[in-house]
Amino acid sequence: MGMKVSQRSDYTFKQNQKIGRHGWLRLTPAYSVKLVKEIIENIPQDAFVLDPFSGTATTGLVASEHGLSAHCLDINPFLIWIGNAKCRNYSKSELDRLIEGVQKSLRDFKAITKNDNWLPAIHNINRWWCRHTLKILAALRQSLVNEFGEPKDNSVFSLAWIAFCRLIIETSSAAFNHVSMSFHDKVMTFEIEQIEFIYQSILDTILESASNCLAGAATVHLLDSMAPVSINNVKYSHVVTSPPYPNRISYIRELRPYMYWTKYLETAREAGELDWQAIGGTWGIATSRLQNWNGNDVELPETLQSLVSQIFETGEKNALLMAKYVWKYFNDMYLHLQNLRKSLEKGAVLSYIVGNSSFYGTEVHTEQLLECSLRSLGFTNIGSKVVRKRNSKKELFEYCVYATWQESCKYEPSFFKANRPKAEQLSLF
Ligand SMILES: C[S@@+](CC[C@H](N)C(=O)[O-])C[C@H]1O[C@@H](n2cnc3c(N)ncnc32)[C@H](O)[C@@H]1O
Repeated sequence: MGMKVSQRSDYTFKQNQKIGRHGWLRLTPAYSVKLVKEIIENIPQDAFVLDPFSGTATTGLVASEHGLSAHCLDINPFLIWIGNAKCRNYSKSELDRLIEGVQKSLRDFKAITKNDNWLPAIHNINRWWCRHTLKILAALRQSLVNEFGEPKDNSVFSLAWIAFCRLIIETSSAAFNHVSMSFHDKVMTFEIEQIEFIYQSILDTILESASNCLAGAATVHLLDSMAPVSINNVKYSHVVTSPPYPNRISYIRELRPYMYWTKYLETAREAGELDWQAIGGTWGIATSRLQNWNGNDVELPETLQSLVSQIFETGEKNALLMAKYVWKYFNDMYLHLQNLRKSLEKGAVLSYIVGNSSFYGTEVHTEQLLECSLRSLGFTNIGSKVVRKRNSKKELFEYCVYATWQESCKYEPSFFKANRPKAEQLSLF
């Protein structure tokens, strides 16, 4: 690609950490608040926004900050919990009750650090925290449970738990210098007073933004966006989202420390099961399932078929798996867009932030392939523009793919009408 596009660090998740509620919890693949604001600023006040791939509820929160209504969907229960906590209003009396409870927990936990408190079954846990730090974290967790119970939806106590999630990551050896998470070589040791101080400072920052009132109304729901989605039969006027990209990033992998400590995950098996439901999921069992996956009823465009063959024909060790990965990703995105049409009002505008990728030197032009799917599904005004360059070396870009839904269009796919081989007829599988 010959164009000159800069990396635009202002369009990454890094900036989000400084923006009030958006900074409550880090998710590397979260998209930029600035970008979402630019899209949402142009949306009229009577709009109803949908984000079918909510993640940390960036869209919901921006929409609500702008006084709009929004529904956000995700398949990960942990993200539903945190998303609803971010998009909710908190009264002064609720916050006072929370502060009182936290103070009590911080007083009590010191006496129980020698106990055998519950610890999450995270694989190789001492790579994250040393034994000493773990004892203190486990005691604080127990003390918070005694006061507030386990994390649950729609409670002011979620804020105490979000602060705890931040604490466990800030005291861990996790490093975020790359697109996905890695580990520092050294595991640090923390003392009781340090843990208490870090927790208190995190909570103070969270409380500052929690007391700001949100003008709109955004809610987050546990739903699979590949299936027809309907919440109270609302028809959406705008879809603003960033679905997974076909780049093998696993959200479960990124979120697992939080999910284990909050008991949203208890076993490695569960993590794989959840990732199998995710578009582009690739963690644990999700990968072995992919080996045996041979498509479903969706017929995909020829450009995709030749791309998939090209990846396979590189002959690399995992070429078949990667070919299937790309195939399934576009298969699932097609299913999503197909079913989404039922929830859209006439003239609904879609903005999808996606990234391209590359497998063994074969470029996957996500934006073009999604445009192709949108066309075949009867959307109009389809196009895409580059948002930013994602990596200094590789030709990786982020795009905004846009389209409009005109109800009058037929629901019939058009690009497969004649001479379109079925996916299972692809010679390589
Ligand atoms: C790129 S992230 C979204 C990040 C989000 N824009 C943010 O700022 O945090 C994609 C999300 O899609 C979710 N997801 C993947 N497959 C899904 C499906 N079938 N239905 C609903 N959500 C799904 C993942 O759990 C992940 O949270």
